[in-house]
Amino acid sequence: MPVIAVDGPAASGKGTIAKRLAAHFGYPHLDTGLLYRAVGWVVRDRLDDPRAAIAAAEAFDIAMTCGDELRTEEAGRAASKISAIPEVRAALLAFQRSFAAQAPGAVLDGRDIGTVICPQAEVKLFVTASVEVRAGRRHKELQARGNPSIYADILADLIDRDRRDSERATAPLKAAEDAFPLETSQMDADQAFAAALAYAAPRI
Ligand code: C5P
Repeated sequence: MPVIAVDGPAASGKGTIAKRLAAHFGYPHLDTGLLYRAVGWVVRDRLDDPRAAIAAAEAFDIAMTCGDELRTEEAGRAASKISAIPEVRAALLAFQRSFAAQAPGAVLDGRDIGTVICPQAEVKLFVTASVEVRAGRRHKELQARGNPSIYADILADLIDRDRRDSERATAPLKAAEDAFPLETSQMDADQAFAAALAYAAPRI
């Protein structure tokens, strides 16, 4: 079954692109960040205890990914911490692979879909934008949802998260060698989707 892997840093627009590609091709979509957010949320008061995070990941169930609290910056920070634990990543691997194997195809977005989860994916996109542009987008998105947000705090948080996600030893954030790089700093959402579709369509 065709798989579309969409990777990139936080707030790069990869989620929106993945969702729109999924709708276009009629494939289910998995936001894999939600898996790590769900596990991080369960252990948010015990983030220094890797055993708690591993146990939560081993007990992972898709029902854990429901709830608005998972969209908060607190959940994102917790996810970024627990996602560096190799056993947590290993515990979440089978769920992601079986999602990717379903008919008629699937779209997964995350950090390591093209490199680790689905290295054989038919389409791999690596979506980026400058950290300032990403902070601006996230800030606007939070405000639009009525959440309090301070641009400088979002920027500092993204810089921190980029560093943690890129420097970790297991499945760090990096483009697969055969990924199509999509730099969206100068694009709006429609332009980014059009560029992603132009690349994906002939490969599906
Ligand atoms: O994409 P999102 O911001 O929801 O991801 C939250 C955190 O989960 C990331 O900062 C990253 O540390 C982790 N993550 C990951 N691998 C993925 C998806 C997310 O390590 N495939």
